[in-house]
Amino acid sequence: MPEILTRPMCPDDLDRVMEIEHQAFAIPWTRADMEGELNNRAARYQVLTEDGMVMAYAGTWFVIDEGHITNIAVAPECRGKGYGTRVMAAMMRNAVDLGVTYMTLEVRVGNAPALALYKKMGFKKAGVRKKYYEDNGEDAYIMVNDRLQLSIDRAMQEKKLLKNR
Ligand SMILES: CC(C)(COP(=O)(O)OP(=O)(O)OC[C@H]1O[C@@H](n2cnc3c(N)ncnc32)[C@H](O)[C@@H]1OP(=O)(O)O)[C@@H](O)C(=O)NCCC(=O)NCCS
Repeated sequence: MPEILTRPMCPDDLDRVMEIEHQAFAIPWTRADMEGELNNRAARYQVLTEDGMVMAYAGTWFVIDEGHITNIAVAPECRGKGYGTRVMAAMMRNAVDLGVTYMTLEVRVGNAPALALYKKMGFKKAGVRKKYYEDNGEDAYIMVNDRLQLSIDRAMQEKKLLKNR
């Protein structure tokens, strides 16, 4: 069994994170964007490692009692194995620890895997931003979760992943 861990992202992770970012998104963030995030006091990023290799990451901006999820991606060869669930749970635990009471995010209305992940993690649709994405004019759902700890517990118990916290 591979060793799966989550931990805060550090500068040494950037090469691998940028590789996954380019595999995951039509309009990837630049390396400068990601470096900026590491220096942004309002931002926190988590990575998931499999036997020491970064395979997923997720980020959030924290403003007072709100956490806004900015980014989440899993290496293509590792999708569908629960890694998205784990790195998102780590991010949400981080938010709870920081005293955040609710989290928000935007997601393409056609992104079925991401919608499935967010629903599993307790996020609910709260609205639509019309033509939010510049590349194809796709709408975004705004999603919100104000029951963070309950959602983490439910998602992790479902997959019996608690032993790897
Ligand atoms: C979205 C993403 C992070 C999901 O990561 P993942 O590791 O595959 O997710 P998990 O394995 O933890 O699965 C989470 C849930 O989503 C479901 N799911 C995963 N892939 C799916 C797919 N292709 N279609 C439908 N549901 C899917 C799983 O069944 C699981 O639910 P379950 O446990 O009830 O069965 C991953 O697909 C990805 O990196 N996509 C590209 C980047 C992206 O779109 N990020 C989101 C931007 S808003």
